Amino acid sequence: MVSEGVAAPDQEILRDVREFYDSVGWSQLGEGLYQNARYEDLRPVAQDYIRRCHLRVKRYLPERGRLLLDAGSGPIQYPEYLEYSRGYARRVCLDVSKLALEEARARIGGHGWFVIGDISRLPFSEGSFDGVVSLHTVHHVPAEQQGRAFWEIHRVQATGSRAVVVYSWGSHSVLMRLFQWPIRMAERLIARRSHGPQTARDLKLDPHAKSPGTFTHHHDSSWIKGQLDRLQDYEIVVWRSVSTAFMRSLVHRKAFGDGFLRLIYRIEELAPHLMGSWGQYPMIILGKPSLKTGGTS
Ligand SMILES: C[S@@+](CC[C@H](N)C(=O)[O-])C[C@H]1O[C@@H](n2cnc3c(N)ncnc32)[C@H](O)[C@@H]1O
Repeated sequence: MVSEGVAAPDQEILRDVREFYDSVGWSQLGEGLYQNARYEDLRPVAQDYIRRCHLRVKRYLPERGRLLLDAGSGPIQYPEYLEYSRGYARRVCLDVSKLALEEARARIGGHGWFVIGDISRLPFSEGSFDGVVSLHTVHHVPAEQQGRAFWEIHRVQATGSRAVVVYSWGSHSVLMRLFQWPIRMAERLIARRSHGPQTARDLKLDPHAKSPGTFTHHHDSSWIKGQLDRLQDYEIVVWRSVSTAFMRSLVHRKAFGDGFLRLIYRIEELAPHLMGSWGQYPMIILGKPSLKTGGTS
């Protein structure tokens, strides 16, 4: 029997997520390549676009400071992630997965402090961080607790700092819903044409192979905005407007894939707010303005 309240199921979700990342997600498939990379498009045609999307995060962070919090850091798996804390004295990596933190420590050593913890109950005092990033993590938090994760991030931000949360609208993305059928048709065509993976590396990253997974919940933009409205200062802009499924099925080098992605990037730059609300992955920027005391009559 499940007792009243939400605490017990929430703890189960947290435990499931931690076990998944400790035993599967951050297990290495070879040369610094994690099982988690299955969810990304690692083909050469996608590299430049993905790299530029990663670097977008840095634009919104204060360039330097004492402490940068990376909430749900994982192993700091992409080289661009190192850029975010370049101007900071320390990067504080927080994660539920012990393996993630061991890998992160192997990557940044003395530049980091490593803390096992839950993003919706941050073990830090108010205003501790000059910058915060949380990438692809909040969607692992139980649905009703996700607002709390945002408020926790906001609580530990210093006045005048900024936090960047990369989230996914999941199946609510208006843009990706428009492309649902072309994606499905292209996937079928590719599956029919493919004669199976060629190498062990391909096999490990075969997009059609079944990937194990863990708990995720994606809210739509109106739910998130409803939660954020109690914070004074926030903005939603694009991180990346297209999903991995879109890229793997519709972007191909032989079909001018590089040019297609350059065009998508250009559109994202021209309309960051629209593409942030409609595309697949938004960046939610939290500010923390200083409280004005006194005032003029
Ligand atoms: C999809 S991975 C993203 C990792 C990294 N931010 C990145 O972009 O590569 C999600 C990470 O969040 C961690 N995580 C999930 N739920 C968490 C929670 N409630 N508190 C802290 N970390 C959590 C997982 O252990 C995992 O390392």
